[in-house]
Amino acid sequence: MSRIIGIDLGTSTSEAACIVNGAPKLIPNTLGKCITPSVVHIAEDGGILVGESAAEYLFTRPDCTFMEVKRLTGSGEILRAHGKEYSPEEIQSMLLRYLAGCAETWLGEKISRAVITVPAYFTDAQRRATAKAGELAALNVERILNEPTAAALDYGLANLKECRNVLVYDLGGGTLDVTVLELFEGVIDVKASRGNNHLGGKDFDEIIMAALADSGGDERARMRLKKAAEDCKIALSTGEAYQVSLPFLLTAKDGKPISVEKTVSRAEFEVWIREKVESTREPMLTALSDAGLSPADMDVILLVGGSTRIPCVRRLVEESMSAASQSLVDPDLTVARGAAIQAGLLEGSIADGDLVLTDVCPYTLGIASMHEGLYDDRLLFDPIILRNTTIPAEKSKLYHPFTDFQTSVTIEAYQGDSSDIEDNEKLGEVHLTGIPPARRGKEPIEVVFAYDINGILQVKASVVSTGKNISADINTTGVKPRPALDLTKWESANGARQYRPAIRKAEKKIAEGYDENGDLQIVVRRIKEALLLEKGQQAASLRNDLLELLELMK
Ligand SMILES: Nc1ncnc2c1ncn2[C@@H]1O[C@H](COP(=O)(O)OP(=O)(O)OP(=O)(O)O)[C@@H](O)[C@H]1O
Ligand SMILES: [Mg+2]
Repeated sequence: MSRIIGIDLGTSTSEAACIVNGAPKLIPNTLGKCITPSVVHIAEDGGILVGESAAEYLFTRPDCTFMEVKRLTGSGEILRAHGKEYSPEEIQSMLLRYLAGCAETWLGEKISRAVITVPAYFTDAQRRATAKAGELAALNVERILNEPTAAALDYGLANLKECRNVLVYDLGGGTLDVTVLELFEGVIDVKASRGNNHLGGKDFDEIIMAALADSGGDERARMRLKKAAEDCKIALSTGEAYQVSLPFLLTAKDGKPISVEKTVSRAEFEVWIREKVESTREPMLTALSDAGLSPADMDVILLVGGSTRIPCVRRLVEESMSAASQSLVDPDLTVARGAAIQAGLLEGSIADGDLVLTDVCPYTLGIASMHEGLYDDRLLFDPIILRNTTIPAEKSKLYHPFTDFQTSVTIEAYQGDSSDIEDNEKLGEVHLTGIPPARRGKEPIEVVFAYDINGILQVKASVVSTGKNISADINTTGVKPRPALDLTKWESANGARQYRPAIRKAEKKIAEGYDENGDLQIVVRRIKEALLLEKGQQAASLRNDLLELLELMK
């Protein structure tokens, strides 16, 4: 069998690695570097540039140069260059093909197999889209591996004798992943994952950009502004202040040039990003409580991703946990190294007994099912696989058609944690026909959810009495992930005013450290979500929960 390479396909940067003499080795690109910017430029004649040489075109040809495409994975969005249309998967495949090509040159052999990493919190649609990108790059995707789990593999291989509780905090260019796992003499047991697919360094860049200037619709000015903002952010990780200088950035209406000259201090920057950084505390606490652990139980914290170099991000992680965060792994390269280790386990270049890995499904998966209510019938979310179940997992449940003599049903699969299906994400649906007509409640239907080791779901349904069954890979292409809610805007939601006193009181308690197990934070977040989604009833009932919690704390 041929060799398998590991690829960290990142929002900002990508890396590839493979096993050489039993250890992970980073693969240099055509410029001899191990880190490749995730940028693709498509030339007029269809020629493709990837990495640093493509990044140069961000300023001169932003119309046919693509960056941060990972955030569009699985969105169904269309990208355009020279009048041609491209899916995000096609652009991602160009990056993958480039990295595989670099590996071919470096190793002197053909590469057709890869392990590709994704954020643990990636949805089913995003995982499928990533696998599709691999396929378009002529790669057999042998495994889709969760990024924090990859970091744990890298740490685990270097520390085979250790028995410890580990928290991986991965804040990259576009995503946040938090994973809690137990390491026991080479056995890596992932307990829980939590995160945010729309939070990362690019959001910090955007905050700085907004503070510097308004680029209007001028794409070139926007790119210059973005570059300056990122330079500023990175400089502030070590320095106390940074001078941004952008001469002749824009032309005003009267034809006069507009330049930007501004000094940004670290203290100022920390205030700007405070709310976003604070918002990463909740996923840490939720992952811990899902794992049945408390901050005091954690022995090791692995900081992964370029954005963990920001001092106030580190401070937040340290404050929230008992163990001091340490640079125990390389924040930029550890995910690719872990992907290579997984590749090594699959190809046999690392002995199976050395490292054993279990991972979890980060979302609750289930179907929409009709429930008879006192006043009306309601469609509710009925969980089948609970979040943080060890994978692969197969679970089944019995249902009945809702009306008399119904001969077909549509089974709609959702992921999420709310009983209200509207709040969860629809993954797709399958139709089961040929149900023998019977009185309601008489003809059971079995629904089976199979969630595989790549995090991809298959749904099967069968009529128990006849054995007639259908099985479908849920087709999720084209299902748009729900846009992430900006919780900081909750106060402008309809009817938010009457919630302010309770939320303020709870936030004060949280700030004073009364919310040890994070319950208050969760309820506050859910109220804000409900308000933003204009779910008044839900918000009201959550407020009662919150008031009860506050009462208990007195
Ligand atoms: N010294 C630094 N200080 C602050 N931010 C930094 C520093 N170095 C890199 N970054 C930021 O880290 C981000 C890139 O990190 P990384 O390469 O880990 O992300 P990625 O793997 O591409 O993204 P993701 O994992 O979210 O898909 C960028 O936003 C970059 O600006
Ligand atoms: Mg990353």
